[in-house]
Amino acid sequence: MYLLLCDRFRDTCIAAEQEGILVGFVLSFVPPAHMDTIFIWQVGVAERFRGQGIGLEMLNHLVAMPSCASVKFLEATVTLTNAPSRALFAAFARQHEAAIVQSERYGRELFPNGNHEAEHLLRIGPIGSRMNIAKGDNVAGI
Ligand SMILES: CC(C)(COP(=O)(O)OP(=O)(O)OC[C@H]1O[C@@H](n2cnc3c(N)ncnc32)[C@H](O)[C@@H]1OP(=O)(O)O)[C@@H](O)C(=O)NCCC(=O)NCCS
Repeated sequence: MYLLLCDRFRDTCIAAEQEGILVGFVLSFVPPAHMDTIFIWQVGVAERFRGQGIGLEMLNHLVAMPSCASVKFLEATVTLTNAPSRALFAAFARQHEAAIVQSERYGRELFPNGNHEAEHLLRIGPIGSRMNIAKGDNVAGI
């Protein structure tokens, strides 16, 4: 799935590098039936680089890219216990002065053996002020 996304949806996938080291990535796509929405499949930052603003910078870079020109909402699914991920999306919503609407999307019963927490959909938007948010230099399209 990861390879498929960064191959077939490369315009909405980004990697962050510092001195040639891959430190983070975002894999996402704009669902054809919902061109106003970017769905984040996965966002990850290497452990020792976390808490430095790289996750937030990648999301800001993503929504400012030409491939997201039609995007007004950002969606992601997150478990209730993933505090860093929730904090990241909350910070993104705050920066964009956008609301977050949460709903349970994929219940525990949908996962093999039921041993995965339910995934809750976060829908953030409308995103209004994205062009005013500074972009860093260490994020590039894949
Ligand atoms: C979620 C993740 C991508 C965040 O990346 P990051 O680069 O550390 O995040 P940032 O430094 O940009 O922080 C963004 C916000 O989240 C907050 N935050 C980050 N990590 C946090 C933590 N462990 N606990 C509480 N808040 C946290 C930051 O304080 C910041 O909020 P602020 O602007 O209000 O201060 C990273 O923790 C990660 O890779 N986790 C494992 C993979 C994962 O769970 N991905 C999400 C799946 S949906």
